[in-house]
Order: sequence, then C-alpha cells, then structure tokens
Amino acid sequence: MVGVRGPLGNSYPLEQLKGKSLTIIGGGFAFTTLRSTIQYILDPANRGDYGDLNVIYGARNPGLLLYKDELAAWDAREDINLVTTIDREVEGWNGRVGFIPTVTKEVAPKTDYAIICGPPVMIKFTLPVLVECGFTPDRIIMSLENRMKCGIGMCGRCNVGSKYVCKDGPVFTKEQLDKLPNEY
Ligand code: FES
Repeated sequence: MVGVRGPLGNSYPLEQLKGKSLTIIGGGFAFTTLRSTIQYILDPANRGDYGDLNVIYGARNPGLLLYKDELAAWDAREDINLVTTIDREVEGWNGRVGFIPTVTKEVAPKTDYAIICGPPVMIKFTLPVLVECGFTPDRIIMSLENRMKCGIGMCGRCNVGSKYVCKDGPVFTKEQLDKLPNEY
C-alpha cells in the first residue's frame, strides 16, 4: 500500500517566468521535478509563453540518466538546447563528461533566469558559476532537498533559519537564501 500526501509547499514561479529565457540545471534524481517543468514549457500550449530554453542535466554514469526516451526526443527538437553529462568517462559513452559546475561554465548560459535542483554539493559549486555567468541572486531559483518528515511545517526537521523548506519552499531564490543561515 502506498500513501500519497500533497501537493505541499510552493512551486516554480512559472507565471513570473513567462516571456523569459531559461536555463534549467539538474543533477541526479532531482531531475524528476525539473522534468515536469520542462514538459510544461515544451507543451505546444505553453511553449510560446517562454523564450530560449537550455537544459543541463548530469548523472554519475549513463545508466543513472533518467527519462532516456524523453531526452532523445528533446535533443531532436530545435526549441531546446539540451546538454547531458556524466561524471567520468565510461566505455560506449560519446557524450559530454564532467561535473555540472564545469559543464555549466563551458556552456556559459546567458538567459534571464536559471533554475537549479540537485544534491547540495552540486548546488554549492554551481552557484558561483551562475553568478560568474551574470545571473543576479533574484534570477537564480533553487529547489532545496532538505530532509523532511511531516511536510507541513510542524516537526522542524527541514528548516533553514526561520523558513521551512516543506512549507515556505522548497523553491527559493538565491536572493532569499542569502538572507538565511547556510543550512541547505
Ligand atoms: S518536514 Fe516537518 S517542518 Fe518541514
């Protein structure tokens, strides 16, 4: 038996992002939340509402890249620039090799906003690269992965300073997080 509770917390500000170009960066299994956002933007009913779309997605090895059929379909499209990468060389992999921060630096995205979700270490090293690329803190949007228990702001398991990731987040801008303790 599987129980499902939700939806909880906030979401990516897709209304606010209308008319803007976007770079979406994901690492590991966190890509699941980004995938639904990308699907939404690529939907013919919505694609015209958004500008250029870069997607940078990294996994430890090719076997851990999720949604391979979708990645292939996106790669074939003209209206999305998809970059996939794995951490280390693997026989049979002809794509890009390198950690997300390095690959982001190579891609050097120039879009209005960046959305990033992934393991804390990935976020930690990618943020300075985004700042270097010219993204101001209000234009870097992150989804945090703090451990959660209750999901409704009661247990205090997930907080960053005075904010609950489960209730006030998980989506915050870097500008918002810069005012809080570095507990994410
Ligand atoms: S998970 Fe309990 S307060 Fe956030």
